[in-house]
Amino acid sequence: MAVRPVLKMGAPLLRAVARPVERFDAELAALVRDMDDTMRELKGAGLAAPQIGVSLRVVIFELNDNPRYPHLAAIPYTVLVNPQLTLLGAEQADGWEGCLSVPGLRGLVPRYTRLHYAGYDLQGARFERTVEGFHARVAQHEVDHLDGVLFPQRMRDLSRLGFEDALIGQLTPMPD
Ligand code: NI
Repeated sequence: MAVRPVLKMGAPLLRAVARPVERFDAELAALVRDMDDTMRELKGAGLAAPQIGVSLRVVIFELNDNPRYPHLAAIPYTVLVNPQLTLLGAEQADGWEGCLSVPGLRGLVPRYTRLHYAGYDLQGARFERTVEGFHARVAQHEVDHLDGVLFPQRMRDLSRLGFEDALIGQLTPMPD
């Protein structure tokens, strides 16, 4: 098990555009194992490779009884390499987000409610899904990391950025 240090907002690598993966090899598998260990140890709903200092287009996400995000529908464990997002409609919804690179803070972030994503799994097999709600939100959040964007940059009203312990009881609307 290798839980890697997570870069925090301000680290230059989190502002960089990550490179596409070109080889689906043992090195990629080892990277994803470290990402899994780190995400689960820190109880994140997702993690992008740049967050552990690797500037490659790889994200993982999963939601299954996560105490950071209670009362939400499960998202199957997903490894998504070289993702492409296609928005389905212009509708957006506000929801609270956190990020392991922005520890202790939550913000109310508008995201598109429906989208299609495509990419490759760890073995290099292409797959695609049409998703909505929190699943679509997580996909947008994680893919943003690959383009050097953190959730506060997506906020329209920074007065809705705050510390978790000060926001108790105010985290509504919960992500849909
Ligand atoms: Ni994040």
